[in-house]
Amino acid sequence: MKSTLSHVLAIVCIAVPLHAGAQVSNPFEGDARAIRAGERLYANRCAACHGADGKGATGPDVTMLWLEGTNDEAVFDTIREGVDGAVMPPSFAPDEELWAMVAYLRDISTVPPFDAGDGDAEIGREIFAANCGECHRVNGAGGTLGPDLSNIAAVRSREALIGSIRDPSAAMALGYRTVTLVAANGERIEGVVKGEDAFSIQVVDTDARLQGYLKANLRRFVHEDESLMPRFGRLRLSERELDDLLAFLATQRVDASAAH
Ligand code: HEC
Ligand code: HEC
Repeated sequence: MKSTLSHVLAIVCIAVPLHAGAQVSNPFEGDARAIRAGERLYANRCAACHGADGKGATGPDVTMLWLEGTNDEAVFDTIREGVDGAVMPPSFAPDEELWAMVAYLRDISTVPPFDAGDGDAEIGREIFAANCGECHRVNGAGGTLGPDLSNIAAVRSREALIGSIRDPSAAMALGYRTVTLVAANGERIEGVVKGEDAFSIQVVDTDARLQGYLKANLRRFVHEDESLMPRFGRLRLSERELDDLLAFLATQRVDASAAH
């Protein structure tokens, strides 16, 4: 697994922040003027299919996207690229217009208050430290392979979190796609993709190191459908322990109102 290979590019000085913000974020998030502009654009270009209120017509409801676990970047990409094989058309409008629509959709998306349940947050803290902290940070401490979970209870429902924990591969967090690289000498490297262009790929490997590789120097690289997060089934994490863990994550919630 160790990569002291000649093809390893300069490390870390790449402008990829190693925290939850590693995905592209919306420059207009929460910006009232952009939201109003996005509303008008939406009414002109999208409402015919998705409904004036976003609740769906011939196209699906687009008011639940964040609750279902998406993020700004993924919605942007869907609008940009359209949906293959469906009537959802691609858009060639400038980025600013797309981000304005994303800001509008996010504004109307309903994230209900997180149901913290009746678990014990203190026990949950210990469970987190023992099982999750190597890959996830809360409040500045922990690993970086997976997303920062400090504010996760503000942007995901209880059901979505349970899904992410019990069955991580079912809906993977964007910006954390798994990749397997095979170097020219046959060495295999697993990690999550942080950036990619035609010539190079940047990966946080399973030792949490950010490395860049030139594609020409790789024998191959494969985007995988499996999350690097292990499944936490009931044998590994009982219902009781899951309740405690969710109670702990709920207490980490930074600011409930900032996140919708
Ligand atoms: C001609 C009808 C049509 C128009 C116009 C249209 N859409 Fe869609 N859209 C669809 C359909 C149908 C789907 C579902 C595609 C599928 O997954 O099968 C979809 C899917 C989506 C999704 C993904 C929903 C999900 O659940 O993942 C988003 C987001 C979306 N549209 C946003 C927009 C926005 C924003 C606009 C305006 C810029 C727009 N759409 C314009 C028909 C349309
Ligand atoms: C070996 C590393 C690893 C461990 C251990 C791990 N995770 Fe993850 N986790 C990841 C990665 C990578 C992702 C991003 C891909 C995905 O969504 O599956 C992720 C995603 C998640 C998400 C989804 C975040 C989002 O934005 O939707 C949640 C929630 C989560 N993990 C919670 C936990 C909890 C709770 C534990 C401990 C019980 C845990 N993880 C243990 C690596 C890990």
